[in-house]
Amino acid sequence: MESRIKVAGHPLHQMLIVFPLGLLATAAVFDILYLITDRVIWTHAAYYMIGAGLIGGFVAAVPGWIDWRAIPRGTRANRVGLVHGIGNVVVLGLFALSWLLRRPAPEAPPTEAIVAGLVGMAIATFTGWLGGELVGRLGVGVDDGAHLDAPSSLSALPAGAEARGVPRAAMGGHDRRSRPAAPYSGVERRTAGSMR
Ligand code: HEM
Repeated sequence: MESRIKVAGHPLHQMLIVFPLGLLATAAVFDILYLITDRVIWTHAAYYMIGAGLIGGFVAAVPGWIDWRAIPRGTRANRVGLVHGIGNVVVLGLFALSWLLRRPAPEAPPTEAIVAGLVGMAIATFTGWLGGELVGRLGVGVDDGAHLDAPSSLSALPAGAEARGVPRAAMGGHDRRSRPAAPYSGVERRTAGSMR
C-alpha cells in the first residue's frame, strides 16, 4: 500500500524515524555508560540528544499518522498501526518526562529520569518491530506492484511497470513479480526438518 507522503519517491515517515530512534537509543546507551563510569560527559550528551530526539519524534509522527489514516479499517495493518502509533507516543512521553526531570541539572540526572528513558527504549524496541511488521509483512508504505526489477522511484513509471524494458521472453517467460511464492523456501524446509 503506497505511502501518502513521499519525498523523492520514498515514504517520508520511513526517512524521518531514523532521527528519534537513533538519538533516543543512543541517549539510553549514554545513560548506561554514565552509570558504569560516573562520567558526566555521558549524561550531558544524553540530555541534548533526548531534546533533539523528541523534536525528531514529533515531526516523524505526523507523516506516520497520515499514512495510518489511509489504511482500511478492520484490517490487521490498521490495528498494528494503531498500537505502533500509540506506543510511540507513549515512548515520546516517557522521554519528554526524562528530559524535564534532567533539565535543572543535566549533568546529574535523578534516577527517575534514567529509568524513564530506559523504559521508553524498551517499549520502542517493540513498537519499532511493529513498524517493521507494517512495512515488511503487511506492505504498508510499499509501492503497489513493487518487484525486484521495478523502475526507479524517480521515473514517471509505476512500480509495477515492466522491468527496464526487458521483454518477458528474455526472462525465460517469467514475470518475476507474478511468480507465485512457495510457502517455504528449501532452506526453511530443511531447517524445519532438522529440528524435528
Ligand atoms: C515518532 C515515533 C515513531 C517512530 C520512531 C516510528 C517508527 C517506525 C518504524 C521503525 C517503521 C518501520 C519503517 C521501515 O521498516 O522502513 C514505521 C512504519 C510506520 N509507522 Fe511509525 N513510528 C513513529 C510514529 C508513528 C505514528 C504516530 C504513526 C501513526 C499511527 C505511525 C505509523 C506508521 C505507519 C503507517 C508505518 C508504515 C510505513 C509508512 O507508512 O511509511 N508511526 N514507523
